[in-house]
Amino acid sequence: MSNPQRLEHQMTDKGFVPVYTTAVVEQPWDSYTAIDHAVWGDLYRRQREILVDRACDEFLAAQDAMGMGESAIPKFSELNRMLQKKTGWTLVGVEGLLPELTFFEHLANRRFPVTWWIRKPEQLDYLSEPDLFHDLFGHVPLLMIPVFADYMQAYGCGGVKAHGIGPEALAQLTRLYWYTVEFGLIRTSRGLRIYGSGIVSSKGESIHCLESPAPNRIGFDLARVMRTRYRIDTYQKTYFVIDGFDQLMRATEPDFRPLYAELALQDSIPAGDVQPGDTVFNRGTGEGWLADGDV
Ligand code: PHE
Ligand code: FE
Repeated sequence: MSNPQRLEHQMTDKGFVPVYTTAVVEQPWDSYTAIDHAVWGDLYRRQREILVDRACDEFLAAQDAMGMGESAIPKFSELNRMLQKKTGWTLVGVEGLLPELTFFEHLANRRFPVTWWIRKPEQLDYLSEPDLFHDLFGHVPLLMIPVFADYMQAYGCGGVKAHGIGPEALAQLTRLYWYTVEFGLIRTSRGLRIYGSGIVSSKGESIHCLESPAPNRIGFDLARVMRTRYRIDTYQKTYFVIDGFDQLMRATEPDFRPLYAELALQDSIPAGDVQPGDTVFNRGTGEGWLADGDV
């Protein structure tokens, strides 16, 4: 594999991260080495095993339907044929994280930017920035689900809009992405399940988010989510639980302008807090109860 075109490092709201060229690049599939394919295969096998009874059925079914497998790094061109037919999304290759506005504009046009390079064998468990495994294994299957595909596009449009409003609106919207697209949990008749891409692509967090007694699992509430700070360098202290993808669509349909203005007047909530009025879910049974004033 050749090296990604990294421009420089910059301090952003995601921490000190590399900044890349914004250009769309062709996936250099022929340049992947046997080691690259083996890293994909090892991660794929390992995560699929862990995700049985942990990821939601929709995610696993979508991943199967796309024809991803462990034998080799998938070709964007082949995945695109499936995606096009199913929801009209297109994967485009990129060098890495994009400037916010560029990212939003891709989503608003049903294009999903996928990092073309894959981590090294010594980085199987952790990497501080998205790579091909996170993007393809974690994000792309959800784009096969019509309601989620629509949510991602609506988010992109909302991002372009928030970008024009200002940094506070942008910070609130970014929290929504973080706690749904990246780290969301969903309630099913068989208990809590994972759908967030940042979780499904991580071995440790896939187990932690459902089985550890440490984090809070709180019922999704738009304003609550948009006020909640998040951690980029550790497992999450709070996960927000949706009842279904329809709930996400419905809750995010209204114009966010008045909400941005209202939330700008309120304090943000620390990542690990439980607040009066939160619905707190039991990690085993998925049963929820209302937190009262004493928490
Ligand atoms: N309704 C939001 C707005 O007016 C846009 C949005 C939709 C944001 C879906 C996130 C997710 O800004
Ligand atoms: Fe991601």
